[in-house]
Amino acid sequence: MPQFPDVSKSTALYARAGELIPGRVQLISRRADQFANGVSPVYAQRAKGSRFIDVDENEFVDWVNAVGAVILGHADDVVDGAVIEQIRRGSLYTLNSPLELELADELIKAIPSAQMVRYTKGGGEACAVAARIARGATGRDKILICGYHGWHDWYQAANYGVDPVSGEYPFAGIEPIGVPAGLAGSVVPFRYGDLNMLEDLLKQHAGETAAIMMEPCRSEPPPAGYLEGVQALARAHEVILIFDEVSCGWRQAIGGMQAVTGVTPDMTVLAKAMSNGYPMGAVVGAREVMEPAARMFISSSYWSDNIGLVASLTTIRELKRRDSARRFDEIGESLRRALNQALADAGMGGACRGFSSNPMLAIQSPPGVDPRKANTLFIQEMARRNVHCSLSFKATLAHTEEDIRVTGAAATEALKVVKDAIEHDRFDQLLVVDLKKEPFRRQVA
Ligand SMILES: Cc1ncc(COP(=O)(O)O)c(C=O)c1O
Repeated sequence: MPQFPDVSKSTALYARAGELIPGRVQLISRRADQFANGVSPVYAQRAKGSRFIDVDENEFVDWVNAVGAVILGHADDVVDGAVIEQIRRGSLYTLNSPLELELADELIKAIPSAQMVRYTKGGGEACAVAARIARGATGRDKILICGYHGWHDWYQAANYGVDPVSGEYPFAGIEPIGVPAGLAGSVVPFRYGDLNMLEDLLKQHAGETAAIMMEPCRSEPPPAGYLEGVQALARAHEVILIFDEVSCGWRQAIGGMQAVTGVTPDMTVLAKAMSNGYPMGAVVGAREVMEPAARMFISSSYWSDNIGLVASLTTIRELKRRDSARRFDEIGESLRRALNQALADAGMGGACRGFSSNPMLAIQSPPGVDPRKANTLFIQEMARRNVHCSLSFKATLAHTEEDIRVTGAAATEALKVVKDAIEHDRFDQLLVVDLKKEPFRRQVA
């Protein structure tokens, strides 16, 4: 059995972060308790392609990839080259940047719902802009939501009215501390896949609802006819339909899920993969929905920063040039095969399925066995074999057959350990870390 990696520097930094940074990290998904805390690395010093080196000098194959914000691979030469060249010309001008128009043209060409464009620096911020535009354009306040849309008040208000511990949705595990109580009821969650519930809510809040904002899907295709049904309801009730493609956009197709499903929303929110790791977000939409934004206060110093603009332009062009949809199909097919083979070779039940750019591994635990134990032990044993992953694998175009072979071999061994723990009731001996925490339950799988 390989030694656990030495992550002592990571551990020391994480302890120090407890004194300097409330919550220790800037993104909940980067907390150490999201992985095998004490075995998984927490701090990186550099990253290239499909791999990173942590602060303790361990090299890992990376299947998290900045939670999907990296799509071409870490430190992509072409994107970084364009960014470096732009830095030499100025990262933020006094005047506006023509790149804003160049990127707008590119987004409008690629995304079916896009006729006009606004920029931000991140996904949650872009969702907040979309919510502002929808409210301003309709003169109505309520928004029906399904999915994760960031940290801002407008959205976190959804957790008023549910028990944050036991509540099923929007998120078990989040209390709306610091969110004005006056916003309670302004945002109403609906269950993914349930058209009847959505219709009931639209009737209940008739005349008050500005928009439906939802993730059209995450790692699996939407149920047949579902998005069409949502669109029909939005039209019938004259509310703006917003697809939040921050996580699914660019991965299935250039142009997003709407390019795959043919269901075009009124507005779309994009971020993450659009710029291969550089801060960037966008709201795009139909002219009649976007144009009223000209009269709203939507303004920020860094939204015209050249780095995000040039990174996005180059990333989108590189996704096209590298034939991303076809290449992701090859990588995903190969990864799913390797992980399903690992399950079979280890004699474990379960399956790896889902979109090629984001396959999900489900490990079957027998009744009576807490699935969190099997999942945490799997992550621990993968980290021991220098593969950094959760159960959701975010592929990049930089992943190679060799990365997949290494991952498959590690998974076979890791799953054998899980099987041993299940069959001989040995979790207590084999798990050397606390159970992985679920930060909040998302509504869209
Ligand atoms: C669908 C979706 N919307 C919004 C966000 C928030 O984006 P950011 O973390 O850039 O604020 C995320 C982040 O994971 C997301 O997945």
